[in-house]
Amino acid sequence: MAYNFRGREKMKIPICRPFIGKEEKEAVLAVLDSGQLAQGKEVAQLEENFARFLGIREAVATSSGTTALFTVLQALGVKTGDRVVTTPFTFVASASSIVQAGGIPVFCEVDEKTFNLDANRLEEILKANPRIKGMVVVHLYGLPCSMEDILYLAKRYQIFVVEDCAQAHGAELQGKKVGTFGDAGVFSFYPTKNMTTGEGGMIVTSCPQLADKCRMLINHGSHEKYLHQILGYNFRMNNLGAAIGLVQLRRLNQTNQKRRKNAAFYTNQLSGIPWIVTPFEPASATHVYHQYTLRVLQGRDSLRAYLKDKGIGTEVYYPLPLHQQPFLKSILGEQSFPVSENLSREVLSLPVYPLLQQEELEEIVFHIKQFFNLPSIQLLAKEEATWE
Ligand SMILES: Cc1ncc(COP(=O)(O)O)c(C=O)c1O
Repeated sequence: MAYNFRGREKMKIPICRPFIGKEEKEAVLAVLDSGQLAQGKEVAQLEENFARFLGIREAVATSSGTTALFTVLQALGVKTGDRVVTTPFTFVASASSIVQAGGIPVFCEVDEKTFNLDANRLEEILKANPRIKGMVVVHLYGLPCSMEDILYLAKRYQIFVVEDCAQAHGAELQGKKVGTFGDAGVFSFYPTKNMTTGEGGMIVTSCPQLADKCRMLINHGSHEKYLHQILGYNFRMNNLGAAIGLVQLRRLNQTNQKRRKNAAFYTNQLSGIPWIVTPFEPASATHVYHQYTLRVLQGRDSLRAYLKDKGIGTEVYYPLPLHQQPFLKSILGEQSFPVSENLSREVLSLPVYPLLQQEELEEIVFHIKQFFNLPSIQLLAKEEATWE
Protein backbone atom coordinates (compact mmCIF):
# COMPACT_ATOMS: atom_id res chain seq x y z
CA MET A 1 0.00 0.00 0.00
CA ALA A 2 3.03 2.21 -0.26
CA TYR A 3 1.47 3.67 -3.41
CA ASN A 4 -1.04 5.49 -1.22
CA PHE A 5 1.35 8.36 -0.90
CA ARG A 6 2.10 8.70 -4.59
CA GLY A 7 1.04 12.13 -5.70
CA ARG A 8 -0.65 13.05 -2.45
CA GLU A 9 1.35 16.24 -1.98
CA LYS A 10 -0.24 17.67 -5.11
CA MET A 11 -3.74 17.45 -3.69
CA LYS A 12 -5.40 20.19 -1.68
CA ILE A 13 -7.17 17.42 0.24
CA PRO A 14 -5.06 14.28 -0.05
CA ILE A 15 -6.48 10.77 0.29
CA CYS A 16 -4.44 10.28 3.43
CA ARG A 17 -2.62 12.37 6.02
CA PRO A 18 -1.00 10.58 9.00
CA PHE A 19 -1.64 12.13 12.42
CA ILE A 20 1.84 12.75 13.87
CA GLY A 21 1.78 15.12 16.83
CA LYS A 22 4.15 16.63 19.34
CA GLU A 23 3.99 13.55 21.55
CA GLU A 24 5.23 11.25 18.79
CA LYS A 25 8.13 13.61 18.07
CA GLU A 26 9.10 13.76 21.75
CA ALA A 27 8.86 9.98 22.07
CA VAL A 28 11.16 9.46 19.08
CA LEU A 29 13.67 12.01 20.41
CA ALA A 30 13.71 10.24 23.78
CA VAL A 31 14.60 6.95 22.06
CA LEU A 32 17.31 8.65 20.01
CA ASP A 33 18.74 10.22 23.15
CA SER A 34 18.70 6.88 24.95
CA GLY A 35 21.00 5.38 22.34
CA GLN A 36 19.05 2.12 22.33
CA LEU A 37 17.35 2.05 18.97
CA ALA A 38 16.51 -1.65 18.75
CA GLN A 39 15.31 -4.45 21.03
CA GLY A 40 14.46 -2.10 23.85
CA LYS A 41 11.65 -1.48 26.28
CA GLU A 42 9.42 0.43 23.82
CA VAL A 43 8.80 -2.66 21.69
CA ALA A 44 7.96 -4.80 24.74
CA GLN A 45 5.69 -2.04 26.07
CA LEU A 46 3.85 -1.72 22.76
CA GLU A 47 3.30 -5.49 22.70
CA GLU A 48 1.92 -5.40 26.22
CA ASN A 49 -0.32 -2.39 25.63
CA PHE A 50 -1.61 -3.69 22.30
CA ALA A 51 -2.49 -7.08 23.82
CA ARG A 52 -4.31 -5.30 26.64
CA PHE A 53 -6.14 -3.04 24.19
CA LEU A 54 -7.47 -6.08 22.31
CA GLY A 55 -8.06 -8.20 25.40
CA ILE A 56 -5.76 -11.02 24.24
CA ARG A 57 -2.89 -12.84 25.88
CA GLU A 58 0.00 -12.49 23.44
CA ALA A 59 1.28 -9.86 21.03
CA VAL A 60 4.49 -10.04 18.98
CA ALA A 61 5.70 -6.88 17.22
CA THR A 62 7.14 -7.21 13.71
CA SER A 63 8.70 -5.12 10.97
CA SER A 64 5.48 -4.99 8.88
CA GLY A 65 2.04 -6.48 8.43
CA THR A 66 3.38 -8.61 5.61
CA THR A 67 6.18 -10.13 7.70
CA ALA A 68 3.62 -10.69 10.48
CA LEU A 69 1.37 -12.63 8.07
CA PHE A 70 4.24 -14.68 6.67
CA THR A 71 5.56 -15.46 10.16
CA VAL A 72 2.24 -16.60 11.57
CA LEU A 73 1.54 -18.80 8.54
CA GLN A 74 4.93 -20.46 9.00
CA ALA A 75 4.33 -20.83 12.71
CA LEU A 76 0.96 -22.46 12.02
CA GLY A 77 2.78 -25.03 9.93
CA VAL A 78 1.92 -24.01 6.37
CA LYS A 79 4.14 -26.09 4.10
CA THR A 80 4.77 -26.48 0.40
CA GLY A 81 1.55 -27.22 -1.42
CA ASP A 82 -0.82 -26.48 1.47
CA ARG A 83 -3.92 -24.64 0.38
CA VAL A 84 -4.98 -21.51 2.28
CA VAL A 85 -8.24 -19.66 1.57
CA THR A 86 -8.36 -15.89 1.23
CA THR A 87 -10.26 -13.41 -0.96
CA PRO A 88 -9.25 -11.96 -4.31
CA PHE A 89 -10.45 -8.51 -3.23
CA THR A 90 -7.75 -7.37 -0.81
CA PHE A 91 -4.20 -6.01 -0.70
CA VAL A 92 -1.67 -8.36 -2.29
CA ALA A 93 0.00 -9.27 1.02
CA SER A 94 -3.02 -11.31 2.18
CA ALA A 95 -2.20 -13.77 -0.61
CA SER A 96 1.52 -13.20 -1.27
CA SER A 97 2.31 -14.17 2.33
CA ILE A 98 0.62 -17.54 1.67
CA VAL A 99 2.84 -18.07 -1.37
CA GLN A 100 5.94 -16.92 0.55
CA ALA A 101 5.20 -19.58 3.19
CA GLY A 102 5.03 -22.23 0.45
CA GLY A 103 1.23 -22.40 0.31
CA ILE A 104 -1.21 -21.94 -2.55
CA PRO A 105 -4.01 -19.39 -2.19
CA VAL A 106 -7.55 -20.62 -2.80
CA PHE A 107 -9.77 -17.65 -3.48
CA CYS A 108 -13.24 -17.31 -2.04
CA GLU A 109 -15.47 -14.67 -3.64
CA VAL A 110 -16.54 -11.62 -1.61
CA ASP A 111 -19.98 -10.29 -0.76
CA GLU A 112 -20.62 -7.08 -2.72
CA LYS A 113 -22.41 -5.52 0.25
CA THR A 114 -19.60 -5.94 2.80
CA PHE A 115 -16.55 -6.33 0.47
CA ASN A 116 -15.57 -9.22 2.77
CA LEU A 117 -15.35 -12.96 2.24
CA ASP A 118 -18.79 -14.38 1.42
CA ALA A 119 -19.25 -17.04 4.08
CA ASN A 120 -22.11 -18.58 2.06
CA ARG A 121 -19.61 -19.66 -0.58
CA LEU A 122 -17.03 -20.94 1.85
CA GLU A 123 -18.39 -24.39 2.63
CA GLU A 124 -18.48 -25.39 -1.03
CA ILE A 125 -14.79 -24.52 -1.29
CA LEU A 126 -13.82 -26.35 1.89
CA LYS A 127 -15.81 -29.42 0.84
CA ALA A 128 -14.20 -29.52 -2.58
CA ASN A 129 -10.62 -29.14 -1.38
CA PRO A 130 -9.37 -31.43 1.39
CA ARG A 131 -5.84 -29.94 1.16
CA ILE A 132 -7.03 -26.65 2.64
CA LYS A 133 -5.14 -26.08 5.86
CA GLY A 134 -6.44 -22.69 6.89
CA MET A 135 -7.83 -19.28 6.01
CA VAL A 136 -6.63 -15.69 5.99
CA VAL A 137 -9.82 -13.69 6.42
CA VAL A 138 -9.54 -9.94 5.80
CA HIS A 139 -11.57 -7.29 7.62
CA LEU A 140 -11.41 -5.01 4.61
CA TYR A 141 -11.56 -1.22 4.98
CA GLY A 142 -12.18 -1.66 8.74
CA LEU A 143 -15.38 -3.74 8.64
CA PRO A 144 -15.29 -7.07 10.52
CA CYS A 145 -16.06 -10.27 8.57
CA SER A 146 -18.92 -12.50 9.70
CA MET A 147 -16.72 -14.42 12.11
CA GLU A 148 -19.47 -16.61 13.53
CA ASP A 149 -19.99 -18.42 10.21
CA ILE A 150 -16.27 -18.52 9.48
CA LEU A 151 -15.37 -20.00 12.86
CA TYR A 152 -18.18 -22.56 12.63
CA LEU A 153 -16.81 -23.82 9.30
CA ALA A 154 -13.19 -23.68 10.45
CA LYS A 155 -14.08 -25.92 13.36
CA ARG A 156 -16.09 -28.27 11.22
CA TYR A 157 -13.27 -28.65 8.65
CA GLN A 158 -10.51 -28.42 11.29
CA ILE A 159 -8.56 -25.63 9.69
CA PHE A 160 -6.88 -22.56 11.18
CA VAL A 161 -8.14 -18.99 10.93
CA VAL A 162 -5.79 -16.02 10.68
CA GLU A 163 -7.52 -12.66 10.78
CA ASP A 164 -5.87 -10.06 8.56
CA CYS A 165 -6.67 -6.97 10.63
CA ALA A 166 -4.23 -4.71 8.75
CA GLN A 167 -7.10 -2.27 8.13
CA ALA A 168 -9.16 -2.86 11.27
CA HIS A 169 -7.40 -1.75 14.48
CA GLY A 170 -10.09 -1.56 17.14
CA ALA A 171 -12.98 -2.78 14.94
CA GLU A 172 -15.49 -4.88 16.87
CA LEU A 173 -18.06 -7.55 16.36
CA GLN A 174 -20.64 -7.85 19.12
CA GLY A 175 -18.31 -5.90 21.38
CA LYS A 176 -15.28 -8.16 20.77
CA LYS A 177 -12.27 -6.77 18.93
CA VAL A 178 -11.11 -8.27 15.66
CA GLY A 179 -7.88 -10.19 15.97
CA THR A 180 -9.23 -12.10 18.97
CA PHE A 181 -11.59 -14.46 17.09
CA GLY A 182 -9.26 -16.72 15.12
CA ASP A 183 -6.11 -18.68 15.95
CA ALA A 184 -4.17 -15.46 15.36
CA GLY A 185 -4.66 -11.89 14.20
CA VAL A 186 -2.25 -9.75 12.23
CA PHE A 187 -2.06 -5.94 12.13
CA SER A 188 -0.15 -3.46 9.97
CA PHE A 189 1.19 -0.14 11.22
CA TYR A 190 1.98 1.34 7.81
CA PRO A 191 1.60 5.18 7.90
CA THR A 192 -1.83 5.22 6.25
CA LYS A 193 -3.31 2.80 8.76
CA ASN A 194 -5.55 3.66 11.74
CA MET A 195 -2.38 3.74 13.81
CA THR A 196 1.24 3.73 12.69
CA THR A 197 4.78 2.93 13.75
CA GLY A 198 6.26 4.12 10.41
CA GLU A 199 6.50 0.57 9.12
CA GLY A 200 5.52 -2.23 11.46
CA GLY A 201 3.13 -4.97 12.33
CA MET A 202 1.79 -7.11 15.16
CA ILE A 203 0.82 -10.75 15.58
CA VAL A 204 -1.73 -11.46 18.32
CA THR A 205 -2.89 -14.79 19.65
CA SER A 206 -4.25 -16.41 22.78
CA CYS A 207 -1.87 -19.37 22.27
CA PRO A 208 1.49 -18.94 24.09
CA GLN A 209 3.14 -21.71 22.03
CA LEU A 210 2.19 -20.02 18.78
CA ALA A 211 3.44 -16.65 20.08
CA ASP A 212 6.68 -18.29 21.17
CA LYS A 213 7.21 -19.80 17.70
CA CYS A 214 6.54 -16.41 16.10
CA ARG A 215 9.01 -14.72 18.44
CA MET A 216 11.67 -17.19 17.40
CA LEU A 217 10.94 -16.83 13.69
CA ILE A 218 11.18 -13.04 13.74
CA ASN A 219 14.43 -13.18 15.69
CA HIS A 220 16.74 -15.47 13.67
CA GLY A 221 15.15 -18.64 15.04
CA SER A 222 16.59 -17.81 18.41
CA HIS A 223 15.56 -17.25 22.01
CA GLU A 224 19.06 -17.34 23.36
CA LYS A 225 21.85 -15.18 22.01
CA TYR A 226 23.76 -16.95 19.21
CA LEU A 227 21.83 -20.19 19.59
CA HIS A 228 19.57 -20.75 16.58
CA GLN A 229 17.03 -23.52 17.00
CA ILE A 230 15.27 -23.08 13.68
CA LEU A 231 15.73 -21.15 10.47
CA GLY A 232 14.59 -17.64 11.27
CA TYR A 233 14.53 -14.08 9.99
CA ASN A 234 15.01 -10.56 11.21
CA PHE A 235 11.46 -9.21 11.20
CA ARG A 236 11.74 -7.21 14.45
CA MET A 237 10.18 -3.82 15.04
CA ASN A 238 12.61 -1.07 16.11
CA ASN A 239 12.27 1.18 19.16
CA LEU A 240 11.66 4.37 17.20
CA GLY A 241 8.61 2.84 15.56
CA ALA A 242 7.39 1.35 18.82
CA ALA A 243 7.71 4.73 20.57
CA ILE A 244 5.48 6.27 17.88
CA GLY A 245 3.09 3.34 18.17
CA LEU A 246 2.70 3.75 21.94
CA VAL A 247 1.43 7.29 21.46
CA GLN A 248 -0.77 6.32 18.51
CA LEU A 249 -2.33 3.45 20.45
CA ARG A 250 -3.26 5.79 23.31
CA ARG A 251 -5.08 7.92 20.77
CA LEU A 252 -6.65 5.10 18.77
CA ASN A 253 -10.15 5.12 20.28
CA GLN A 254 -10.36 8.85 19.73
CA THR A 255 -9.07 8.76 16.15
CA ASN A 256 -11.36 5.84 15.28
CA GLN A 257 -14.27 7.86 16.66
CA LYS A 258 -13.34 10.74 14.37
CA ARG A 259 -13.16 8.38 11.39
CA ARG A 260 -16.63 7.09 12.27
CA LYS A 261 -17.93 10.63 12.58
CA ASN A 262 -16.50 11.57 9.18
CA ALA A 263 -18.01 8.42 7.67
CA ALA A 264 -21.42 9.19 9.18
CA PHE A 265 -21.32 12.65 7.62
CA TYR A 266 -20.58 11.23 4.16
CA THR A 267 -23.25 8.53 4.48
CA ASN A 268 -25.80 11.05 5.59
CA GLN A 269 -24.96 13.39 2.71
CA LEU A 270 -24.42 10.90 -0.10
CA SER A 271 -26.90 8.11 0.41
CA GLY A 272 -29.58 9.82 -1.68
CA ILE A 273 -27.51 9.84 -4.87
CA PRO A 274 -28.82 7.07 -7.14
CA TRP A 275 -25.45 6.07 -8.66
CA ILE A 276 -23.75 5.71 -5.31
CA VAL A 277 -23.84 2.92 -2.74
CA THR A 278 -22.51 4.02 0.66
CA PRO A 279 -20.69 1.54 2.95
CA PHE A 280 -22.72 -1.07 4.80
CA GLU A 281 -22.36 -1.36 8.56
CA PRO A 282 -24.30 -4.19 10.22
CA ALA A 283 -25.76 -3.45 13.66
CA SER A 284 -23.51 -6.09 15.25
CA ALA A 285 -20.28 -4.48 13.97
CA THR A 286 -18.23 -1.39 14.75
CA HIS A 287 -16.58 -0.31 11.50
CA VAL A 288 -13.38 1.71 12.00
CA TYR A 289 -13.31 3.17 8.48
CA HIS A 290 -9.69 2.68 7.56
CA GLN A 291 -11.26 3.53 4.23
CA TYR A 292 -14.60 5.10 3.41
CA THR A 293 -15.36 3.29 0.20
CA LEU A 294 -18.25 4.02 -2.11
CA ARG A 295 -19.52 1.88 -4.92
CA VAL A 296 -20.05 4.20 -7.86
CA LEU A 297 -22.36 2.27 -10.15
CA GLN A 298 -21.69 4.46 -13.16
CA GLY A 299 -18.90 6.87 -13.95
CA ARG A 300 -16.44 5.99 -11.19
CA ASP A 301 -13.35 7.04 -13.15
CA SER A 302 -15.02 10.24 -14.38
CA LEU A 303 -15.94 11.17 -10.81
CA ARG A 304 -12.40 10.44 -9.72
CA ALA A 305 -10.93 12.63 -12.44
CA TYR A 306 -13.42 15.39 -11.58
CA LEU A 307 -12.43 15.31 -7.90
CA LYS A 308 -8.75 15.26 -8.78
CA ASP A 309 -9.31 18.37 -10.84
CA LYS A 310 -10.77 20.03 -7.72
CA GLY A 311 -7.69 19.02 -5.70
CA ILE A 312 -9.36 16.12 -3.91
CA GLY A 313 -7.43 12.88 -3.62
CA THR A 314 -9.29 9.59 -3.91
CA GLU A 315 -8.04 6.05 -4.41
CA VAL A 316 -9.18 2.74 -5.84
CA TYR A 317 -8.56 -0.14 -3.45
CA TYR A 318 -8.04 -2.30 -5.50
CA PRO A 319 -8.06 -1.80 -9.27
CA LEU A 320 -7.03 -5.39 -10.10
CA PRO A 321 -8.33 -8.35 -8.08
CA LEU A 322 -5.64 -10.73 -6.95
CA HIS A 323 -6.59 -13.63 -9.25
CA GLN A 324 -5.78 -11.29 -12.14
CA GLN A 325 -2.37 -10.24 -10.79
CA PRO A 326 0.33 -11.61 -13.11
CA PHE A 327 2.33 -13.47 -10.46
CA LEU A 328 -0.75 -15.20 -9.05
CA LYS A 329 -2.13 -15.96 -12.50
CA SER A 330 1.15 -17.69 -13.30
CA ILE A 331 0.62 -19.95 -10.27
CA LEU A 332 -3.13 -20.44 -10.33
CA GLY A 333 -4.05 -20.05 -14.01
CA GLU A 334 -7.13 -18.23 -15.31
CA GLN A 335 -9.87 -17.82 -12.74
CA SER A 336 -13.00 -15.76 -12.60
CA PHE A 337 -14.49 -13.93 -9.61
CA PRO A 338 -17.16 -11.67 -11.09
CA VAL A 339 -18.15 -9.90 -7.86
CA SER A 340 -14.56 -8.90 -7.12
CA GLU A 341 -13.97 -7.92 -10.74
CA ASN A 342 -17.05 -5.75 -10.70
CA LEU A 343 -16.11 -4.13 -7.40
CA SER A 344 -12.70 -3.28 -8.79
CA ARG A 345 -14.51 -1.22 -11.41
CA GLU A 346 -16.89 0.43 -8.94
CA VAL A 347 -15.07 1.20 -5.69
CA LEU A 348 -13.82 4.65 -4.82
CA SER A 349 -12.33 5.58 -1.44
CA LEU A 350 -12.70 9.14 -0.17
CA PRO A 351 -10.46 10.87 2.41
CA VAL A 352 -11.74 9.86 5.87
CA TYR A 353 -8.71 10.36 8.15
CA PRO A 354 -9.06 12.01 11.57
CA LEU A 355 -7.29 15.24 10.61
CA LEU A 356 -9.98 16.16 8.06
CA GLN A 357 -11.72 19.41 8.84
CA GLN A 358 -15.49 19.82 8.58
CA GLU A 359 -15.01 22.36 5.75
CA GLU A 360 -12.98 19.79 3.84
CA LEU A 361 -15.67 17.14 4.26
CA GLU A 362 -18.26 19.65 3.09
CA GLU A 363 -16.13 20.60 0.10
CA ILE A 364 -15.76 16.95 -0.93
CA VAL A 365 -19.51 16.34 -0.62
CA PHE A 366 -20.23 19.56 -2.51
CA HIS A 367 -18.10 18.49 -5.48
CA ILE A 368 -19.55 14.98 -5.56
CA LYS A 369 -23.05 16.45 -5.65
CA GLN A 370 -21.98 18.94 -8.32
CA PHE A 371 -20.62 16.10 -10.41
CA PHE A 372 -23.89 14.21 -10.31
CA ASN A 373 -25.91 17.34 -11.02
CA LEU A 374 -23.99 17.98 -14.22
CA PRO A 375 -25.85 17.13 -17.42
CA SER A 376 -23.20 14.48 -17.78
CA ILE A 377 -24.98 11.35 -18.92
CA GLN A 378 -22.70 11.12 -21.97
CA LEU A 379 -19.66 11.54 -19.76
CA LEU A 380 -20.91 8.81 -17.45
CA ALA A 381 -21.64 6.50 -20.36
CA LYS A 382 -18.18 6.71 -21.88
CA GLU A 383 -16.07 5.83 -18.89
CA GLU A 384 -12.50 7.00 -19.22
CA ALA A 385 -10.13 4.12 -18.62
CA THR A 386 -7.10 6.37 -18.81
CA TRP A 387 -6.64 7.05 -15.13
CA GLU A 388 -2.98 7.04 -14.13
C1 LIG B 1 -5.32 -6.10 4.02
C2 LIG B 1 -3.83 -5.92 4.20
N1 LIG B 1 -3.08 -6.99 4.51
C3 LIG B 1 -1.76 -6.88 4.71
C4 LIG B 1 -1.11 -5.67 4.58
C5 LIG B 1 0.38 -5.61 4.71
O1 LIG B 1 0.83 -4.73 5.68
P1 LIG B 1 2.23 -3.95 5.51
O2 LIG B 1 2.07 -2.92 4.47
O3 LIG B 1 2.48 -3.38 6.87
O4 LIG B 1 3.25 -4.99 5.14
C6 LIG B 1 -1.85 -4.54 4.27
C7 LIG B 1 -1.19 -3.21 4.18
O5 LIG B 1 -1.19 -2.50 3.31
C8 LIG B 1 -3.25 -4.66 4.06
O6 LIG B 1 -3.99 -3.61 3.72
